Amino acid sequence: MSSSSNVRPSIIFVDDDPMLLSSTRRRLTLVARNWDLHFADSGAAALEICKGVVPSAVVTDMRMPGMDGAVLLKEIQRYFPESIRIIFSGQTDQDALIQAHSVAHSILAKPCDADQIYQALQLSLEIQSRLGDPEIRRFVTSGRTIPVSTSSIFDILSLLREPDVSPKKIGESVRNDLGLYAYILKIINSSHFGMRSPVCDIDQAILLLGASQLRTIVCGLKLAHALSPTLDKNLCTEVLETGILRAQKVLQLVQKHGKPKMFSDECYIASLFQDFGKLVLSVSAGSRYLQIIEHSRHQASSLVDLEREAFRCTHAEVGAYLLSLWSFPSSVIRSICRHEDLQSSVQEEPETVEDFVRIASTR
Ligand SMILES: [Fe+2]
Repeated sequence: MSSSSNVRPSIIFVDDDPMLLSSTRRRLTLVARNWDLHFADSGAAALEICKGVVPSAVVTDMRMPGMDGAVLLKEIQRYFPESIRIIFSGQTDQDALIQAHSVAHSILAKPCDADQIYQALQLSLEIQSRLGDPEIRRFVTSGRTIPVSTSSIFDILSLLREPDVSPKKIGESVRNDLGLYAYILKIINSSHFGMRSPVCDIDQAILLLGASQLRTIVCGLKLAHALSPTLDKNLCTEVLETGILRAQKVLQLVQKHGKPKMFSDECYIASLFQDFGKLVLSVSAGSRYLQIIEHSRHQASSLVDLEREAFRCTHAEVGAYLLSLWSFPSSVIRSICRHEDLQSSVQEEPETVEDFVRIASTR
């Protein structure tokens, strides 16, 4: 994926520990040669830097004297909604970290590895540069609206009130809402859960979280949802049902090739979430996007052409961007980002997640 922007991203790194700050400075200066790097030893110093720089991303320690990382990121979210926000933390209080997800796109475990920060950000910045409409870019990055339907939030909360509810039953309910499904994967794949490899299996994610943490997550979403626009029910159903069909086809194909579980899980979610960007665009642009979908059904123009005309980006790019901020595996992100790209050819013998998803989508 090539970047359409030549502007160097400005990244602010914040840590009150002088040793960690200087070691990260040394390492990041080596790996992130294409970024303008800024370093601050407190939240106040970071905000001071922001007076002269619009940050592309702020990466901050959670625990700092004075302003902590979550408060700093809340300020960044308010004044620079287009900035990517990452927290790193050595804290073990899972509930506090889960709450920090409402302001941070991702949470990394401490000590923070400069290469890990570089990788976490590079792909998101690359896709962000493809979102031509600043309003859409700002809206998606701000994270104020997550494409989860209100009824799913209430369904899960009522399920969680049942004594001894089984993880399987919760999983069945989560599967009905792609936004909630993705948000749970975002949290479980944050480094504070210490997973060695990405978790793409929602049943496994629910088991690892347990009922109490799941309740904290869904209650957080309920609060965030108070001011959100309503998701269109028909669009949600269509995106979910076509996603499930595609995902079932890709699973059959992957199984024929005898691929390992991790690979088939990645193919599954790359297929399931392929059109997730339609939900993101519908909460970003509201009825205007629904009209565009309607027009594409009755006009000669394709949906992606109409999307490009209106937003200077497609649902493929918007979905891939949000899921990249949410730490989905890079193979999944690349497959989603390019799924509407007709020039991408299919390999005779499929190898990558993208190859398998593309073949399954054309059958
Ligand atoms: Fe699509």
